[in-house]
This record gives sequence, structure tokens and C-alpha cells, in this order.
Amino acid sequence: MRFLITAGPTREPLDPARYLTNRSSGRMGYALAGAARHDGHDVLLISGPTTLDVPPGVDFIQVETAQQMYDAVRDMLDGVDVAILTAAVADYRPVAYSEQKIKKQGERMVLELERTPDILGSMRSVFGFKGTLIGFAAETQDVESYARGKLERKQCDMVVGNDVSRSDIGFDSRENEVVLVFPDHVEYLEKDTKEHIAMHIIEHATIIRPK
Ligand code: CTP
Repeated sequence: MRFLITAGPTREPLDPARYLTNRSSGRMGYALAGAARHDGHDVLLISGPTTLDVPPGVDFIQVETAQQMYDAVRDMLDGVDVAILTAAVADYRPVAYSEQKIKKQGERMVLELERTPDILGSMRSVFGFKGTLIGFAAETQDVESYARGKLERKQCDMVVGNDVSRSDIGFDSRENEVVLVFPDHVEYLEKDTKEHIAMHIIEHATIIRPK
């Protein structure tokens, strides 16, 4: 099967020296890419900036902004059977980019931000993707119900929910504890390394039939 996986944070530049980003190591997405490749699948990883090594045998596209990730996903969807979007995409970007470094002025500063494109939300409705679609939900409360909301709104076949308010799992951590939310059931996976969680998710991904 052919997998497309997004990973890592995006960076939304404000001026040549500054950007907006979020906490994401990219580990979960890279672990998924490695696990899918290990199982013999064809894998394309589209990633924002991380310090990780690309798993051997995985095709790779490096991006920086949400817009670049959106364009890369749209352009590479042909022939994809399973798309897993783990990237922590910035939801907003600065409205204006300053070509010159912004200088300090006064005690306060207001930044105007605008929405970035929603990649997961465009997969079915804009790109017409017909394969298996898996999203991630990083939440600080009510993980299962927010994950279910995303599953329905973005027409996913599975959403992997995790609680990012806990310091022992999730962002920046080597371990994770997730709930897999499907249209008609949920499955809790015990706390484990991201590599083991990735193997479970890839197993599910290959047997789900897209709706
Ligand atoms: N995602 C994406 N493009 C974006 C934002 C998010 O592809 N611009 C994907 C992430 O990779 C992840 C899922 O959507 O798979 C997370 O969605 P999120 O932004 O948290 O969902 P919303 O319900 O839109 O947002 P919120 O939690 O802010 O209500």
C-alpha cells in the first residue's frame, strides 16, 4: 500500500528572524513512517522542521509553513491508499511578513493573525481523497469526545486522540498513551513507546475500509 504521512510542527514567519510555531518533536509521525516502511509499504513523509533522521527507505519532502504542507499533500495524493496526518500545523499565521527585522517600539505590540488552510479538513471536501484517512487530536481535556468530533467533521476513518496536558506522554516525549476513535467504537492503547503505538496504528490503518 502507499502511505502519505505528515509530521512535525510548521513555522509561520513574521520577519527574517522570527516565526510562530508549536510544540511538536515529530516523533509520532516519524515512528509511523518507519513502522509502515518496516511492514513493506511505500511511504512518503511530508514534514515540517524537526531534528529527527528520516527512516531508511522513506520518501521525504521537507516543508516549513502550513501553506507549503497543504500544497505538498494536495500535489502528492495520487495513488495514496492511506493518509495519516500527525503534523501539528499552526492554526494561524501572521497576516503580514516584514522583509526587514521588526524593531522594538513601545511596551506592547499587537500581532494580527489569519487562519492557515486546514489540510485534514480539505482531504475529502477539497482534494476528493477516497482512501483511508487518519487524523490526530492533541487535547488537554475530554480527549475522546473532541477526537470523535474531529472524526465526524473531517470525515476520517480513525482519529488518534492524546492528552497533551500530561508531561509524561505526547509532545516532546518518547512515549504516548492514545485512544483510537472509530465511527462505531473506541480502543484504548496502554502507555507505550511511540514506536510500539505506531505499529498498532499501522496495523489498523491497513485493515480499515475507507468510508
Ligand atoms: N490539521 C491539519 N491542518 C491544519 C490543522 C490541523 O491537517 N491546518 C490536522 C492535524 O495534523 C491533526 C488534526 O488536523 O491530524 C488536528 O486537528 P485540530 O486542528 O486540532 O482540529 P480542529 O478541530 O480543527 O481544531 P481545534 O482543536 O482547534 O478545535
